[in-house]
Amino acid sequence: MGRGEILLSTTAFNGIRALLKSKTGIHLEESSNSLILSRLSSRVRRQKLPDFDAYLEHVCTPGGAQELVQMINALTTNTTRFFREPGHFDLLKTEVLPNLIEKAKRGERIRLWSAACASGEEAYSIAALVLDIFPDALDFDIRILGTDIDTHMLQHAKTGIYPKRSMNGVSEPYIGTLFEADRGDGKLHIRQSLKDMTTFRYLNFVEPWPVRGPFHVIFCRNAAIYMDPETQSRIWQGLENVLDQEGTLFIGHSERIGADLALQLELFGPTSFRRPLSFLGQNMSKKERGDVTT
Ligand SMILES: C[S@@+](CC[C@H](N)C(=O)[O-])C[C@H]1O[C@@H](n2cnc3c(N)ncnc32)[C@H](O)[C@@H]1O
Repeated sequence: MGRGEILLSTTAFNGIRALLKSKTGIHLEESSNSLILSRLSSRVRRQKLPDFDAYLEHVCTPGGAQELVQMINALTTNTTRFFREPGHFDLLKTEVLPNLIEKAKRGERIRLWSAACASGEEAYSIAALVLDIFPDALDFDIRILGTDIDTHMLQHAKTGIYPKRSMNGVSEPYIGTLFEADRGDGKLHIRQSLKDMTTFRYLNFVEPWPVRGPFHVIFCRNAAIYMDPETQSRIWQGLENVLDQEGTLFIGHSERIGADLALQLELFGPTSFRRPLSFLGQNMSKKERGDVTT
């Protein structure tokens, strides 16, 4: 322990890992001492507590509930960017949205969900694609939902203001779709039309989900990777439950949905899934026979 460093005992370290896992599903490796020290030391100081043992005790009391939220915010990893893993957006634009737009024009309700949206770049990228190919989208029932556990990230997403460097890597035509004309304040401001189409809400994967579905598109990328296999499996199953019969699920390029969903979902493109035709056919014939009540 260096000068000025706050003591992180093995008991406090393991206690914080266990608490984080039970509250969020996030699994921190046994080697993550330095992550806890770097992300939480300032929180311990701010609470004027002597060490991590006292901090752990505090966040476990009813009076520490607010600090527990801050602890979770500090320990989540929120890396994201506009049009991250661009192949998914190409697929969305060419293979998924045209059909959904036709449905919307026929009066259907269309819902797209960026689950674990961090600071909102993924949700706004989806909204930009929708508006790019269907400028009248706001006159129809097409909406995008962004959810996350991190309350700071959700506040950021709602403001829709990003540093200039966020446009690095965004292809030229989308810069104008995403952002307002330069306000001269050195920041990027998301266009009001995209904000009008997008809602951000708190959702913790390991608590009951305050969403109804069905969702025609779900992006759940680069969040489950931080969870243990059991939690991952519960997330995939939960997503499958709210995915529209003809919906598409996109997961992170380093993630796998595992064997549990192999019968319900099949590969549609790189790390993207749909229900197999045989499954749709089965459901259709059940409906035709009147076996299913909705
Ligand atoms: C690395 S970001 C992914 C952002 C975006 N989906 C992307 O791929 O660019 C992971 C996000 O998962 C969120 N997260 C972690 N645990 C969560 C949980 N239990 N419920 C909901 N969101 C969670 C984090 O707060 C973080 O913003």
